[in-house]
Amino acid sequence: MKKILIVGAGGQIGSELVPHLRSIYGNNNVVAADISAEKCKALAEAGPFEELNALDGEGFSAIVKKYNIDTIFNLVALLSATGEKNPKLAWDINIGALTNSLYIAKDNNCAVFTPSSIGAFGNDTPKDKTPQDTLQRSNTTIYGVCKVTGELLSDYYFNRFGVDTRSVRFPGLISYVTLPGGGTTDYAVEIYYDAIRKGSFTCNVKEGTYMDMMYMPDALRAAVELMEADPARLIHRNGFNIAAMSFDPEGILAAIRKYKPQFEMDYKVEPLKQANADSWPNSLDDTCARQEWDWKPEYDLDAMTRDMLEKLASR
Ligand code: SER
Repeated sequence: MKKILIVGAGGQIGSELVPHLRSIYGNNNVVAADISAEKCKALAEAGPFEELNALDGEGFSAIVKKYNIDTIFNLVALLSATGEKNPKLAWDINIGALTNSLYIAKDNNCAVFTPSSIGAFGNDTPKDKTPQDTLQRSNTTIYGVCKVTGELLSDYYFNRFGVDTRSVRFPGLISYVTLPGGGTTDYAVEIYYDAIRKGSFTCNVKEGTYMDMMYMPDALRAAVELMEADPARLIHRNGFNIAAMSFDPEGILAAIRKYKPQFEMDYKVEPLKQANADSWPNSLDDTCARQEWDWKPEYDLDAMTRDMLEKLASR
């Protein structure tokens, strides 16, 4: 990776991935693009920035040529709960941005990273230690349907045209810089904000709902390490399971109470989010990522909790 373009740079992942990539590859070699410069002031001030609607193929292609881009990170997506409010829009945005990334990569000899997700699994998938290669045929969200499609489409561009496509199935991502929006796993971010601000939290998924989660520094490292991995070692490409921790709301509550013993939680379940969460795995088996590109998480629930509380308190 020498000249990198991140589309959808202003979202939860991009707002941290851009500075991370700039710290490794140099500010001028990492171009951030998003629909509005206004919402991405920090990114635009620190390095190259382009206003781009990723569905505009011509504009997208012009930016790739202008900067001589060799790697595209496509982070454009509506998340799972938002997607259900307007499935057509979710499909148009999530698949439209990916399709543009792939054909533009083919025409300009770029590699492509796209996040897949635990949402790529559905009710037919084995729930515990979900294998790398398994059933993905009973998805209940348009978000998940887009993720499965994205994995297949990315494999297709690799097999048919030799485009260097790679992706990971991210767990719920927890971070203190930018809030996610409209995701099923968002509760695990919001709980930390409320632990600092209010001392109590109302959880929208019920007790006993296990999902895989990951702290953002591990997620950023995963994206870079996969894109830098020796292609000769990659048996899989699109949709590596990666894992760091799995917990239910009681588990994260207990982790926070270690540092904030007075912290309280009650429940007001949102049926849509609960249904999404119930259809997703409890925990992923990430053996293939460990074997093929030496993936290893650094943060467990306790280490993440300590860091989240410390960082949020200091803001
Ligand atoms: N965090 C996403 C969501 O909850 C899943 O990848 O929608």
